[in-house]
Amino acid sequence: MPLLLEVNQASKIFGGLKALDGVSMEVREGEIFGLIGPNGAGKTTLFNLVSGALPVSGGRIFFRQKEISLLPDYRICRLGIARTYQNIRLFGKMTVLENVMVGRHSRTRGGLWSTVLRLPGDQAEKVRSRKIAEEWLEFFHLLGKKEEKASNLAYGEERRLEMARALATEPSLLLLDEPSAGMNPQEVRDLNDLILKIRRQGKTIFIIEHNMRVIMDICDRIAVLDFGQKIAEGPPAEVRANPRVIEAYLGREA
Ligand SMILES: Nc1ncnc2c1ncn2[C@@H]1O[C@H](COP(=O)(O)OP(=O)(O)O)[C@@H](O)[C@H]1O
Ligand SMILES: [Mg+2]
Repeated sequence: MPLLLEVNQASKIFGGLKALDGVSMEVREGEIFGLIGPNGAGKTTLFNLVSGALPVSGGRIFFRQKEISLLPDYRICRLGIARTYQNIRLFGKMTVLENVMVGRHSRTRGGLWSTVLRLPGDQAEKVRSRKIAEEWLEFFHLLGKKEEKASNLAYGEERRLEMARALATEPSLLLLDEPSAGMNPQEVRDLNDLILKIRRQGKTIFIIEHNMRVIMDICDRIAVLDFGQKIAEGPPAEVRANPRVIEAYLGREA
């Protein structure tokens, strides 16, 4: 499969702290690629670099061979990378549908608030945006709740709404930051099914995960970060048996 995302020696320094220290990895089209590692290992920071939320301190990132290392987030979004957040970020006072529409408008310059207040003038684009938003709501079984306030949703629904919002920007690469956090085993199984279904829509998935059930059941390959460095990469079963990984991550978990 062709290379979609290439992270080449990426570093991120916060003050004196090297949150990421020369990390490289590649995600291929159609893959479900997992990223694991202890708390504070730098996983979310890597997503922040790839999505353009933060600039790299060093190294380069390519998406479809195009360098995106220093592009602002809305341009990276337009190129086809969307994400969800470890801590859910929804607009509680807006409706479910509006939350997804906001995601679409964040493809354009100007930031969230100005785009909320000033929808694009072009009527055809509005109609198309709404149609895509509703299609993704239907995909996540949320269409029946589209006029509800987001703050009325149950936790699992909020997680699905975040995914709908990201996918409504029509990405080819979806970044999921610990989507199973706080879910019970049944919810985790449902989430796995959903992620596999998202892939069947032609999406590539890069997922940060804590839950071994998600990693083992759906990831094609995984990479492990520890203290800002990649310490292993490969198929999940192989990586899980790697002594260095057991020591750094699984050992501490257990
Ligand atoms: N915006 C930031 N400013 C300062 N330090 C940060 C920032 N984001 C993350 N860090 C620090 O970088 C390290 C890696 O954090 P993070 O990427 O969130 O880890 P993970 O997602 O693997 O738990 C942590 O020590 C964290 O405190
Ligand atoms: Mg994190």
